[in-house]
Amino acid sequence: MTLTPVRGCLYADEPDTAPGNPVGTPWPASAQDGPAGLTVAGVALADAADRFGTPLYVLDEDEVRTRCRAYRTALPGAEVLYAAKAFLCSALADWIAEEGLGLDVCSEGELRLAAAAGFPPERILLHGNAKSPEELRLARRLRVGRIVVDNLAEITRLAALTAAHTPQRVLVRVVPGVAAGHHEAVRTGVAGQKFGFALEGGDAEEAVRRILAQPGLVLTGLHCHLGSQIPSVEPYLTAVDRLVELLAAIRDEHGVQFPELDLGGGHAVPYLPGEAGLDLDEFAALVPVRLADACKRHRLDVPRLVVEPGRAVVAPAAVAVYRVLTVKHTADGRVFAAVDGGMSDNPRPALYGARYAVRLVGRTSTAAVREVDVVGRHCEAGDVLVRGARLPADLRPGDLLAVPAAGAYQLSMASGYNLVGRPAVAAVRGGRARLLIRRESVEDFRGREVGR
Ligand code: LLP
Repeated sequence: MTLTPVRGCLYADEPDTAPGNPVGTPWPASAQDGPAGLTVAGVALADAADRFGTPLYVLDEDEVRTRCRAYRTALPGAEVLYAAKAFLCSALADWIAEEGLGLDVCSEGELRLAAAAGFPPERILLHGNAKSPEELRLARRLRVGRIVVDNLAEITRLAALTAAHTPQRVLVRVVPGVAAGHHEAVRTGVAGQKFGFALEGGDAEEAVRRILAQPGLVLTGLHCHLGSQIPSVEPYLTAVDRLVELLAAIRDEHGVQFPELDLGGGHAVPYLPGEAGLDLDEFAALVPVRLADACKRHRLDVPRLVVEPGRAVVAPAAVAVYRVLTVKHTADGRVFAAVDGGMSDNPRPALYGARYAVRLVGRTSTAAVREVDVVGRHCEAGDVLVRGARLPADLRPGDLLAVPAAGAYQLSMASGYNLVGRPAVAAVRGGRARLLIRRESVEDFRGREVGR
C-alpha cells in the first residue's frame, strides 16, 4: 500500500514517482494533464477557477477517502483518528466518519463543528494544552470518547465534572524526549516546550498517580505526539520503547495495565516532486512489531495502537489555484509573479520556510522555463509562496498557477490579513465540482462589527 500512487502531471524532468516508489508526488493521484489542461478528479482546474473564482482550494474527495482506507488497511489492528487541526469542515467530517476513522479535535470550535456535522462523539478525542473549563464541560456534555490530559489542573477540573457512575476515559500526554519534525515550532516530543508531562523527572508518573486516584476518571493509556512532517519511522520506534518502559513502571507501582497507546500524528508527505513522505507500509511493518516486542520484554499485555494523522490524510488531496495579477521584471534580473492569495491563505512558507511546487494551468506554454518568485498580494516582503519556482518565461497576468499539497495547515491557519478574505473550497469527484465553503467577503468582516 502506498500513499503516493500516481505519476501523471509532472514536468518532464521531474523524478518518476510511479506506484511502489516511496519517493512521492505532491499531486493528488487523480491529477492529469489533458486537453483541458491540468485536471483533478476529472475537473479542469481552469474551469473550477472560472466557476468559483480564485484563490480556490480544490479538494479531491476520493484522495481523502483513499488515504483513510490506506491507513485502515495498513494498520488493521490500530485505531486511526484524523487530526482535525489539519483542516476541518462538515463534508470532511462526513468522509472521515464514513471511512471509519475517529477524530482528534483540539478546541471548542473543532468539537462543535464535528458534533454539528453529526460526527459520532464516542469516536472523538479532545486534545489541547489549554482547555478551558467550558471546553471540558462541553466535551462532557457531548460525551466525547476520550480526553487527553495535558496538565495537572485538568485532572482536578475533570474530576469535578465526573463521578464513578459517569466516568470519563482519559489518556495522559507524555513527552518522551524524542526530537522529530520539520521545524522547531512543531517539535513537541522534547522537553522545553509547552505540551504534556515529561517522562524524565517523574512528571508523567505523577500525573498517572493523580488520575488513578480519581474515581470518575478511567485512564485508558498514554499518548505522545512527537512533531509534524516526520519522514522516518525511527523516532516512533524510540517513542514506543520509552512509553512501554513507563507502562512497565506504572504496572510495577500500581498493578494496572492500559488498553491503548496513542502515538499521535506527524506522518510526512511530499511537498516537492521526488521528496519522501513517511512510508506507511514501513510504519505498519515496524511499529506494531516493536510494540509487541517491547511489551513481551516487560511482560505487559500489548495495548491497541492509536495514530492521529492529519497532514497525511488531507494535504495531498488539495490543490490551491491562484490567478497571476502582475509579473514584475526587475533590473537585477528577477521575476516576481504576484498572485491573488498569499500568506493569508498559506502562512506556511512565512512561518516555517516551507517549500512548495507550483505549475502553470489553463494554457500550455512552449516558452523556456525560468526562475520566478511566486509572491502573494499582502503588504510584507516575506509574503513569498514559492521562491525560485521554475515557470514558463512568458508567464503573464491572468494566468493560473496551481500549488499542490495544499490540504493541510493552510485553510486551517488562514487569516483575515488585509481583509483579503479566506478562499473558497470546492470538492471534486467523478468529473464534478461542488462548492463546500464560499469565499469570505468583506460583508463577513463587517458582519462581526457591532460598534463604532
Ligand atoms: N496529534 C496531535 C496531538 C497534534 O498536535 C497534531 C499536530 C497531530 C496529531 C497531527 O499531526 P500531523 O499528522 O498533521 O503532522 N502547522 C504546522 C503543523 C502543526 C502540527 C500541530 N499538531 C505545519 O503546517 O507544518
